[in-house]
Amino acid sequence: RNETSCTIVIFGATGDLAKRKLFPSIYNLFAKGELGPNFAVIGAARRNWSHETLRENVKKSLDESKTEINEDHLDDFLAHFHYISLDVTSKESYQNLNRLINDLEGEFNIPCNRMFYLAMAPQFFGPIASYLKSEGLTNETGWNRLMIEKPFGHDLPSARQLNNEIREAFREDEIYRIDHYLGKEMVQNIEVIRFANAIFEPLWNNRHISNIQITSSETLGVEERGGYYDKSGALRDMVQNHMLQMVALLAMEPPIRLTTEEIRSEKIKALRALRPVSGDQVDEYFVRGQYGPGNVKGNEVPGYRSEPNVDPDSNTETFVAGKLLIDNFRWAGVPFYIRTGKRMAEKSTKIAIQFKEMPMNLYYKTDEDVHPNLLVIHIQPEEGISLILNGEKLDLSGQTTPVKLDYAHTSTDKLNTPEAYEKLLNDAIKGDATNFTHWDEVALSWKYVDEIFNAWQQKKAAQFPNYEAGSLGPKESEHLLAQDGFHWWPLDW
Ligand code: BG6
Repeated sequence: RNETSCTIVIFGATGDLAKRKLFPSIYNLFAKGELGPNFAVIGAARRNWSHETLRENVKKSLDESKTEINEDHLDDFLAHFHYISLDVTSKESYQNLNRLINDLEGEFNIPCNRMFYLAMAPQFFGPIASYLKSEGLTNETGWNRLMIEKPFGHDLPSARQLNNEIREAFREDEIYRIDHYLGKEMVQNIEVIRFANAIFEPLWNNRHISNIQITSSETLGVEERGGYYDKSGALRDMVQNHMLQMVALLAMEPPIRLTTEEIRSEKIKALRALRPVSGDQVDEYFVRGQYGPGNVKGNEVPGYRSEPNVDPDSNTETFVAGKLLIDNFRWAGVPFYIRTGKRMAEKSTKIAIQFKEMPMNLYYKTDEDVHPNLLVIHIQPEEGISLILNGEKLDLSGQTTPVKLDYAHTSTDKLNTPEAYEKLLNDAIKGDATNFTHWDEVALSWKYVDEIFNAWQQKKAAQFPNYEAGSLGPKESEHLLAQDGFHWWPLDW
């Protein structure tokens, strides 16, 4: 028995997230010996499944996700899974669930450590948390943890209300708010690149960096999530969480040590230094877009307004680009450009850090001659870092040419790097909240994003669609950088 030995209750176990991400992650943790022999997983949802149906579905999810399975211990693994059909709004359901947890804790010799994972529609987060407390499912003997999926509210007031509800049942240090980008290998690597390499940290400031560009583009449209997405849009779906988290990791000061509290408090300070965008400045700093029909990777696709469950006159943005300024000594004057969108040319998440020019250029002959140094962090699909330097052209011209030093994480280390969800589950089971978002981070990012959203609401409807599916977004996103003398670096760099 150790303190990672626990019961994991998944609310929404019949849903898509459980199938695509959670079951394979739990299996991988089991196979790596991270779960120990004493654990149980309870799938909870409305449907009338039996334990057996759940186990069949878990198995199916492992097959579909191409998880490498060791058949010898598969049955043993599946025996830890149990199902309970419940109505999340009924008291009796929680009493039944509590009985099942108690039984399994006895059967598998598990201490009263309980992880409640809410993979459900957000309107149930508050009520579930309060029932867990009122019906005695949280306990004093072992630990209680709540893992909670996005969206965490749709603006600051709703996020605050949700937070107040769950805080009545769980302490802040028991709440693990998921931002799955923080589970990505190369997002976690931002800190290592910055704080373990003496060649970068001295340059990491406004004396040497001219701008930072963060792109997270997708080729997918809204798939089956039109109903949710049409009420959300790219700003609230991607910027409030993932994009601002990457900004915070790039901008934060070095923490005094690598503890959850120290790292979070530096991230919070960085977010606090974000210059708010006032209503009358919104068009100068932010660009929104919506895709029309087009061709993505050789496939004709419909425009956003023709997607299922999307309003045919929708003015929801499926693309956003922005220029963020951070008002502190380190970053004053360095724009952080972000862009994210659906149905773009590539699936790619990348950060390009562009360094300032040399004080004097000895090699200047044409505009193309000296290329700025770039550090590119490749987050997905490929993982790695490249550094773009200048070398001499291999001819008689005496000119320079960019050369690229590449470190590809995945090709040097074929060891099947763990997926984001696997890392996050593992961290939460171990009680490490570093890669989860603290309430203060959530509140600061909503505050920033709300001003932009409200400014858009007050303007007349945008001229949508304004970018073709399969492109890199509306041309205004180019202007955002061009007015400062920069341009987006291509995604294949
Ligand atoms: C989710 C958004 O948080 O992130 C989705 O709700 C988006 O709309 C997804 O597709 C992107 O995640 P990833 O890991 O594929 O970049």
